[in-house]
Amino acid sequence: MMRCFVDSADDAAVGALLRERLVHGVTTNPTILAAAGLEWSALPRIVRGWIELGASEVFLQTWGSERAAMLEHAEALRAIAPEVAIKVPATEVGFGVAATLVERGETVLLTAVYEAPQALVAASIGVRYIAPYVGRLDDAGRDGLQEVATMAELLRGSGTEILAASVRSPQVMVALAERGVTACTARPEVLRAALASADADAAARGFEAAMDGLLRPAAPDR
Ligand code: G3P
Repeated sequence: MMRCFVDSADDAAVGALLRERLVHGVTTNPTILAAAGLEWSALPRIVRGWIELGASEVFLQTWGSERAAMLEHAEALRAIAPEVAIKVPATEVGFGVAATLVERGETVLLTAVYEAPQALVAASIGVRYIAPYVGRLDDAGRDGLQEVATMAELLRGSGTEILAASVRSPQVMVALAERGVTACTARPEVLRAALASADADAAARGFEAAMDGLLRPAAPDR
């Protein structure tokens, strides 16, 4: 089964998906926050709003080139709400930060995972999730689906789950599920596209027309 998250900080689009119960939670990173024009001071209020709307996990990414800064920022993000999970970039410093946060009992996601050995170490230190970037692996001339499938195989039976990111089409969501991936995050428009079918719409129009006929008062017998 695939759990879907929305990869956006567009409050209207995220709020709509949460209200409709179409996603489990929200993933963000500094680029996504900047694209949404969010101010740092507004973040706690917005995140708590998503949680009130039913987000079971909201992923916020720590930052800083040094360990101490990353840990300090992680603490500030975590203080926003218990449902906040901490994303950490999969750099050498990030791995050490992730291990410390895991020891402290935090839910940790290592993000921008590009290599299978990184997946192995992530499982070894006990992070809850890794986020390989499927589309960006393809952009780099690699086979994103194949590489994520290898990671999924390596992680099988561990407590570390792939939450695939940079997922740019509903077809990629399906291909990931076929390869054993159980969580993904995508932009709102990709998730909306996953709901759409011209044939389903035509079938629904047929049902509506039939129902109209059933509800119309029968002509009196002559
Ligand atoms: O979560 C990662 C994502 O934001 C990157 O997506 O499509 O810009 O590679 P994309």
